[in-house]
Amino acid sequence: MLTRLAPLPASAVRMLGIRMRLRATKTKWIAAALLLAPIAASAQPPKPAPGNTNPLGHSEQAIEQGREIFNHNCTVCHGLNGGAGDRGPALGAGRDYSRRKDQAIFDAIQSGIPGTNMPPSGLQPMDIWKVVAYIRSLRATASEAFVPGDVAQGEKIFWSKGRCSECHMIRGRGGILGPDLSNIGGEQPLSVLRDSLTKAKPQIPRGYQPVEVVTADGRRLSGIAKNDNNFSLQLLDNQGRLELFTRDELREVAYGKRSLMPSDFETTLTPAELQDLLAFLSRQAIQGSERPEDSDEEQP
Ligand code: HEC
Ligand code: HEC
Repeated sequence: MLTRLAPLPASAVRMLGIRMRLRATKTKWIAAALLLAPIAASAQPPKPAPGNTNPLGHSEQAIEQGREIFNHNCTVCHGLNGGAGDRGPALGAGRDYSRRKDQAIFDAIQSGIPGTNMPPSGLQPMDIWKVVAYIRSLRATASEAFVPGDVAQGEKIFWSKGRCSECHMIRGRGGILGPDLSNIGGEQPLSVLRDSLTKAKPQIPRGYQPVEVVTADGRRLSGIAKNDNNFSLQLLDNQGRLELFTRDELREVAYGKRSLMPSDFETTLTPAELQDLLAFLSRQAIQGSERPEDSDEEQP
């Protein structure tokens, strides 16, 4: 049976997002550093800018310096790179935060959070703003973050050398074995995009399980399993054909252990090409008003 593939529901697409789970560094050295570190704030400096806007903006330089300050001062409790630590929550993507605005994050870092183990940092206001820029960069989707690189070059890699378009569609063009990437920059933070290209997910997301079947009449087919249940299986093959089988029409079903998504782009692309590709992907964000009426995206 040949059928046009129905668009994936947005919920399925969202399920593909992986959560960053970075293990906290726990060493005696760090414990010792904590005991020695003077955490109490010195004189209370005046607050720089009122409102929610970081006076340093979200420049790459501020973010980079903020990352260093954070890794020096905060990872005794919080995890490295925004992950959860032994004594503090994750500050990066993948969690609901009570403090979302720049000013609220600033205040927590400057004054601590009363009644909790979050201490005042004792940092200078400008250093705090750098850390705020860094924390915001961890939380932002790629389209909100500053992602350097040559977007036009990245687009070329998408359609040629990277062969991404064999499996992925952007704005109606490309393959359908992998998820549609038209809004990937609007959905995922940069770290998740990078991981998608360089690390295999611990579990293959539902709807993308590679499968090989032998039919009762001896045909051998491979592709990915869609709508797989006890009674039937839909197989999407490499040519983009979707075939529906009832279980009794299949003699063998073997699931692949590796996702079709390659995870070796760190070696098959140069560092500059990978960066350009990330810059291109981060710009793939669909604005509310651009969404077509018959879009498969969730309607508000
Ligand atoms: C002694 C451990 C400790 C240290 C050191 C520490 N924190 Fe925290 N931090 C915590 C804990 C615990 C919480 C959660 C407080 C709560 O329950 O609301 C927290 C919460 C926060 C929050 C609020 C998170 C949110 O979503 O509301 C921010 C922002 C934060 N810390 C930033 C920092 C920064 C930046 C540093 C370094 C300058 C730092 N912390 C150092 C323990 C620590
Ligand atoms: C042979 C098919 C294939 C090729 C080639 C391929 N992908 Fe994928 N990709 C997939 C599949 C299938 C998935 C979903 C399963 C998974 O994530 O492991 C996926 C997942 C992804 C995701 C995660 C999407 C999300 O919603 O989290 C991104 C990003 C991505 N691919 C980008 C790319 C880019 C960029 C390239 C080219 C450099 C590329 N892919 C090449 C098949 C492919």
